[in-house]
Amino acid sequence: MANIEEIREFMLAHFPGLKERLEKIGYFTAPASTNHHNNFPGGLAEHSDGVYKIFNMLIKYIEKSKGISILSDTEIYTTAMLHDLDKATMYEPNMIKSKKKVGGVYPMVVSEKKPYAVIKGSYPHTGHFAAEKASKIVSLTDEQEVMIRAHNGPFEFDFRTMESYYKKRSPWALLLFLADYMSTMMEDNTKKKEAI
Ligand SMILES: [Fe+2]
Repeated sequence: MANIEEIREFMLAHFPGLKERLEKIGYFTAPASTNHHNNFPGGLAEHSDGVYKIFNMLIKYIEKSKGISILSDTEIYTTAMLHDLDKATMYEPNMIKSKKKVGGVYPMVVSEKKPYAVIKGSYPHTGHFAAEKASKIVSLTDEQEVMIRAHNGPFEFDFRTMESYYKKRSPWALLLFLADYMSTMMEDNTKKKEAI
């Protein structure tokens, strides 16, 4: 898994405008969850990079074996890196279960068990919100938008509509779901190993 500086350098070299816009909204310091996978600063960018690597591998494999073109390199990268973009602005350090003081200019009290909490008033994470946010950062094709909207698969709130997304609008959305699920499981396993 790449660290945050490697991700920043890659993005600066290939997508400098994207990096600049993501820096402004705190993407590189946001966690990926409150208490599950990658719940640490930079966890969202690391998770998205993990999704990109698996998604890219799956798309390239199908393109090569079938002799077809599915997505451009830019579309693969921006779809994966922005698939959870609503999470960039929805978490804050958890101040509720006070256990541990964290230093800095303004020392904060953070729970050891649940380092982050959802900011009051934020909407819960959904593929639909992520796609809305992503479309404000880059210009998405219709297929990219569908893939991001459907990337949570059975974990999406209106999960019953996901099947029609895959069947009628983009079968490749299933690959993004698979890449996201796989990357998340690998991150969870890493956490479990560290805990042993
Ligand atoms: Fe994700």
